[in-house]
Amino acid sequence: MTTGTSPDLSALIARMSLPEKIGQLTMVTGHWAVTGPRADPLSLATFRDGSAGCILNLWSPEAMREAQRAASEESRLGIPLIIGFDVVHGHRTVFPIPLGEAASFDPALWQETAAAAAKEAAADGISLTFAPMLDVARDPRWGRICEGPGEDPYVGQVFAVAKVKGFQGRSLDDPARLAATAKHIGAYGATLAGRDYASADLSESDMAEVQLPAFASAVAAGVAAIMPSFNDIAGLPSTANAALLTGLLRQRWGFDGIIVSDYNAVAELIVHGVAADHAEAAALALRAGVDIDMMGGSYSRGLAEALVRGLVTLPEIDAAVLRVLRLKERLGLFADPYRGIGPDAEPARVAHRGLARRAAAAAMVLLKNEAKALPLSSTGGAIAVIGPLAQAADDMLGPWSGAGRAEDCVTLLDGIRAAFPGRTILYEPASGFDSAKATMALAREAEAIVFCGGETRRMSGEANSRGEPDLALAQRRLATKLIATGKPVIAIICCGRPIVLPPVLVDKAAAILVAWFGGSEAGTALGDVLNGHSEPGGRLPVTWPAAIGQIPIYYARRRSGRPADARQHYTSKYLDIPVEPQFAFGHGLGYAPLRFANAQVDRATIGPGQSLTVSVDVVNDGNREGATVAMLYVQDPVASLARPIMLLKRFEKISVAPGAVATVHFTLTTDVFAFLGIDMERIVESGRIDLLIGGRAVEEELLRLTIEVTGGRSHIAAASVRAAVNR
Ligand code: GLC
Repeated sequence: MTTGTSPDLSALIARMSLPEKIGQLTMVTGHWAVTGPRADPLSLATFRDGSAGCILNLWSPEAMREAQRAASEESRLGIPLIIGFDVVHGHRTVFPIPLGEAASFDPALWQETAAAAAKEAAADGISLTFAPMLDVARDPRWGRICEGPGEDPYVGQVFAVAKVKGFQGRSLDDPARLAATAKHIGAYGATLAGRDYASADLSESDMAEVQLPAFASAVAAGVAAIMPSFNDIAGLPSTANAALLTGLLRQRWGFDGIIVSDYNAVAELIVHGVAADHAEAAALALRAGVDIDMMGGSYSRGLAEALVRGLVTLPEIDAAVLRVLRLKERLGLFADPYRGIGPDAEPARVAHRGLARRAAAAAMVLLKNEAKALPLSSTGGAIAVIGPLAQAADDMLGPWSGAGRAEDCVTLLDGIRAAFPGRTILYEPASGFDSAKATMALAREAEAIVFCGGETRRMSGEANSRGEPDLALAQRRLATKLIATGKPVIAIICCGRPIVLPPVLVDKAAAILVAWFGGSEAGTALGDVLNGHSEPGGRLPVTWPAAIGQIPIYYARRRSGRPADARQHYTSKYLDIPVEPQFAFGHGLGYAPLRFANAQVDRATIGPGQSLTVSVDVVNDGNREGATVAMLYVQDPVASLARPIMLLKRFEKISVAPGAVATVHFTLTTDVFAFLGIDMERIVESGRIDLLIGGRAVEEELLRLTIEVTGGRSHIAAASVRAAVNR
C-alpha cells in the first residue's frame, strides 16, 4: 500500500485472506522499554504478516515508526496500525483525575485538557485513546469511580461531549487529534458491592436514565469508538450483549464507529460461563457487535474455527473489518501511517503545564473553612507540612497516568514552599508516618499545620476497590495528634474517591481541601489555593458519605413512602449512623461570599414546542472576585412514577467581581422534564414542576420556582432501551 492514497476499502477486503481479516480485528499489547514501551520482536513480526492490525500500550516516536513501518511498508497489503493508549487525563502532562476535573463543572476546561492530551499523544504516534470513561458511579468502594464524571448522568452527558470534542477535534485526520472511545458501556459503575468486574443488576429505568445518557451524548457528538464493560447485566456480559451493542448503539442510535472489547474481555466470556471455548466466545462477541478483540486472543484463535462451525458468517467478519479499515481511513493513516509522529512535543508540554496548574486548582474542593482559615497569609510564623502525601510525587499522577512521570510532578510540599517565600516551611520526612517525635517537634515550632493525607494512587483505579474507603488508621492517629496541638490544621486530602473522614478532622480541622490526584502541577495548584492566588474551584460531583454504611449514597434518590425522620421510628433511617451525607453533591466553598438571589422565570407555563428561561442572580458581597457553579435541578412532585427528589438539568460556572451581581440564564424546553414511563417510553406529563436553583443538592437551601407543564401526556422520541436490558 503506497502512502498518500485512500484505498477502495471493499476492494482491499476482497484481496484479504481470512487470517489478514482476523488480524485487522486483533489488538495486541506493546511492551515496555527504556524510553517508553516498544513493540517486542513478536509484535513486529505479527505486523509484517498482518496477524495484528492494532496495538495498545506502545508509544514514542521511534517505537511508532518501527511498528508502522512493519505494518505499512513491510507487510503484503500495507495496512497501517491503529495505536491505542489510555490517555485518560493527560499524556506526558498529567491533569487531575476525571472525577477531579468533573468537580470543576467547567466543560470548556474538560475540552481543553482533552485537546492538550491529544496533541501530546498524537506526537508520540498514538491515534486512539481509550477515553472518556463515562461510567456513572455512586459507590465509592469502586476504585474506578476516580476515572469517570461522578454520580450524575447529566454531568456525564456534558462531560462526554466536551471530551469527545477535545480529543477528536473537527476531523479525525487532524494529526494533533485522537479517535476517542466512550467506555465502558453496560452499567460498569453499578457493579455489585463496589467490587470491580462484578455483576450489575439494575432496573431498566436506571439503565436508561442513569447509565446510558452519557453514552448517547458521546454518540451524538460523533465518538469514534465504544468499549463494552467487563461485567454482566442479569447474566449477559456486555461484550456479548447484541441488544446493547447492535440493537441500541448501532440500530437505534446510529453509531457508525468501531466497538473495541476491553482487555481480554472476549476470552473472559468463557470464564463468565457463556462460552465453552474461543470459537464460541469469538462468535458471541462478533455477532454482538464487537469489532476488535483487545488482547483476548479469541478472534485470532477462534474466529476461523467459528466460521467452519457455522457460528459466524464471512459477511459478518467482513462488516467488522470494514468498520476498522474505515476508522483507519478517517484517521488519515492510509494517507500517512506516520501521522502526527515526531515533532518534538516538548514546547507543547511546557505550554500545557500552565493548563495543568489551572485545572488542578479548578478541581480542588474546599469542604470546610472555619473562620476563613484559608487562604493563609503570605507572612507570619512557620507552616509545618506533615503527612504521607506531602512529598509524594508519583501519587499525584493518579491511577491512569498515561506517559506521565513522577519526576515531572510538583509535590504538595514543593508547591507550598514556592507559594510562601516569606514564611518558614517546616518539613521532616519521618513526620509523615505517625512518628510522634518528628511530628511534635515540627508542631511545636509551627504557627499553622498543613496535613497532607488521603489515598495513594495504588489505592484507587482499576481492580482497587476498597471495602472500607476511609482514612488509614495511621493517618487518623496522626491527625488526632496534630489537632491535639491546638494549632490550626489545614487538611489536604488526596484521593480517587470520596473517603469517610474521621470526626477529629471533620469537627476540628480548621479547613479541609480535597485535592484528588491533581496531576503534574498538583503542588503548584495547591500553593495557589493556599495563598489565595486561586480559589478552590471545585464542587463535589459525588456525594461524600459520613459513614461507610450509607454507601451507595447519592442525591437523586426517590423519597419512599416513609422518608427518614429522626422524630418518627418507622421511617427510612439507621439506628446507628446518620442518613444525611457528610457533604452533599455540589458542595464546595470559595473565598468570596457569593449567594444566589432573585430567581425568576419568564413564563409560568410551558407546553410542547415552547421554551422557558430561568434567571438567577449571583451576588458577590465580598472584596475579591469569586466563582461558583449555578445549578438548576428539576423536582416533579406528582407523576405517574415516583421521581427522584431532584435531578440536575443545567449548570453553569460563573465568576463575579467584588461587590457585583452577575445573572445566569437557563433556557429549558419540555424534554427536560421527560422520564421513562411505566411502559419504558420517554414521556412528559402535564402538571406542576418545581425548579430548584442554587448550589449544592440540599433542598431547603435552594431557591424554588413553580411552573406548570401543559399539553397532556406526550411521548418524547428517543431511543428505547428496553432491548438493551431485556433480551
Ligand atoms: C483495562 C480497562 C480499560 C482500558 C483497557 C486498556 O482493563 O478496563 O478501561 O482501556 O484495559 O488498558
